[in-house]
Amino acid sequence: MRRGCHRWPVWWLVWKLKLLMLLLLIPMATAVSLPSSGQLRRIWLQDHCNAGICANVEIGRNDYVILSQSPIAKQVMLTFVNSSIAKIPHLMFDTFPDLQLLRMENCSLETFEKPQFEGASNLMSLFLGHNRLKDIPKNIFLGADNLNTLHLEDNQLRTLHNHSFSALKELKELSLADNQLEQLPLGVFAGMRKLLDLNLAGNRLTGFPRGIFDRNLNLTRVNLARNRFTVFESELFKLQPRMALLDLSGNILHELTLNFSLLELIVAQGCDLRRLTVYGVVHELDLRNNSLREMPHIPQAVNVTTLDLSQNPLGNLQGNPFRRFTSLLRLNLSTTNIHELAEGLFKKQTQLKMLDISGNTIYSLKITLFDSLKQLQYFYFQQNNWNCDFLQLLMSSFVKRRDISFMEDVTAPELVDDYVDGIACWYESDKFSKKCDGDGGGSSLSNAAIELSVVRNEIKAFTEVVEKKFVKVYRMLEEMKLKL
Ligand SMILES: *[C@@H]1O[C@H](CO)[C@@H](O)[C@H](O)[C@H]1NC(C)=O
Ligand SMILES: *[C@@H]1O[C@H](CO)[C@@H](O)[C@H](O)[C@H]1NC(C)=O
Ligand SMILES: *[C@@H]1O[C@H](CO)[C@@H](O)[C@H](O)[C@H]1NC(C)=O
Ligand SMILES: *[C@@H]1O[C@H](CO)[C@@H](O)[C@H](O)[C@H]1NC(C)=O
Ligand SMILES: *[C@@H]1O[C@H](CO)[C@@H](O)[C@H](O)[C@H]1NC(C)=O
Ligand SMILES: *[C@@H]1O[C@H](CO)[C@@H](O)[C@H](O)[C@H]1NC(C)=O
Ligand SMILES: *[C@@H]1O[C@H](CO)[C@@H](O)[C@H](O)[C@H]1NC(C)=O
Ligand SMILES: *[C@@H]1O[C@H](CO)[C@@H](O)[C@H](O)[C@H]1NC(C)=O
Repeated sequence: MRRGCHRWPVWWLVWKLKLLMLLLLIPMATAVSLPSSGQLRRIWLQDHCNAGICANVEIGRNDYVILSQSPIAKQVMLTFVNSSIAKIPHLMFDTFPDLQLLRMENCSLETFEKPQFEGASNLMSLFLGHNRLKDIPKNIFLGADNLNTLHLEDNQLRTLHNHSFSALKELKELSLADNQLEQLPLGVFAGMRKLLDLNLAGNRLTGFPRGIFDRNLNLTRVNLARNRFTVFESELFKLQPRMALLDLSGNILHELTLNFSLLELIVAQGCDLRRLTVYGVVHELDLRNNSLREMPHIPQAVNVTTLDLSQNPLGNLQGNPFRRFTSLLRLNLSTTNIHELAEGLFKKQTQLKMLDISGNTIYSLKITLFDSLKQLQYFYFQQNNWNCDFLQLLMSSFVKRRDISFMEDVTAPELVDDYVDGIACWYESDKFSKKCDGDGGGSSLSNAAIELSVVRNEIKAFTEVVEKKFVKVYRMLEEMKLKL
């Protein structure tokens, strides 16, 4: 029988050896040089963890901790809550050799030890967001060579090194959102050939080194929102055959030209965009809250299915701007300073399912506008200056007849003459009367109604200006506070 000589598996021996070394070395180290509260501590994790949730674990920066008397097999997931852990314990992955998912978010994590991920070859997901990490040292992830998902959002990272993420060859998802990154080294993502999802939102990036994504051919989702880009070059992604998402929201870009072979969704909210050009195929555009006074220029408009132009000062759309958007399913024109819609505007939108024209100053339309909208299921038109007679007609001859969903109004009753199915409207002849006494309901607004709509719009514009100013003042105060 050979059994006798294999009583203990190798990992057990290695484990014991490490433990022994630690026990022998640490008292020496403590005696010789540890300056502060450094100490050897036994934190039996079994006492702190229940069903994979560990609570109230305290580990200081200089503590050397032993987590268990022997390795704990088959523990696949661990989540730490209500804990303060300055560094991941040195023996974490020796103690839990089967660990696949480690959540140590919001634990005041400050630093990494070297080597930190030795033996972590089963680790697939690592969540270290909402901590106090300042640096990702070179080669720190050596050992975690099967890591798939790494979250480092909301830490205090200012820089990264070329080799911060080396060894992470299997990484698919990386979040570095809400740090203080100003620039990135050219080689930082080069080892991650399988990267799919990269989140860099909420940093201070102003640009990228040319070619930084040239090794990440499978990159499909890139979030660059809330950075400090003033120009953006889609050339960076010229090697990626198809992308699912690019988010540029909150960067002040003014003018933007994109050229992708295929991009599923571009989100560019609040970029103060005045001009946008998109070459290549893009399916969905979310351009909410920009300064567009003209339609985006998209040669391949035929491939656009969703277009959100809400909160842009487009005004009355002239010259058949949607004629090439023949595949549109969803169109949002909410709060775009529209007063009138031309009769043939939606002639080519035979597929359209959702149309939002709420928050404008429209008082009446040609009902034939809807002739082509055969597929419409959702039509939002609240918060306009509707004429009550026209609104009745719209409801009975189109909205209710076709069983189309709509949304009720929130306008205060004091300002409103009447409601039709919950939507505010005004009478033309006499703005004080609650009931229209049937004076013919002509096609032009009475002076009173025009006056009312002018006043309403002035109030709207005024509050917008005040809001903007207020934001500016608030920012200045904040800056002054920082300087003090
Ligand atoms: C963590 O702390 C919160 C708030 O004190 C408490 O409600 C929660 O039960 C704690 N969780 C665990 C697992 O101890
Ligand atoms: C982090 O934990 C603290 C208390 O330990 C809690 O007040 C805070 O809400 C948590 N933050 C996040 C982002 O979980
Ligand atoms: C980082 O890596 C890139 C290539 O991936 C190389 O060109 C560059 O010189 C490296 N920079 C440093 C500081 O090592
Ligand atoms: C990219 O994705 C495709 C399809 O999922 C896969 O076949 C290919 O191996 C991936 N390439 C790399 C470098 O991971
Ligand atoms: C868009 O990019 C492709 C491939 O990189 C290039 O061939 C094409 O000329 C570009 N189009 C424009 C209008 O710049
Ligand atoms: C709209 O975008 C501007 C930047 O152009 C931003 O300052 C503002 O906060 C955004 N407003 C909303 C409601 O998102
Ligand atoms: C773009 O639209 C054309 C015309 O409808 C269609 O033939 C093509 O397949 C579309 N391409 C993509 C990638 O959606
Ligand atoms: C259209 O845009 C407005 C303002 O951005 C938004 O509140 C509304 O929910 C959008 N409509 C739909 C149907 O998504």
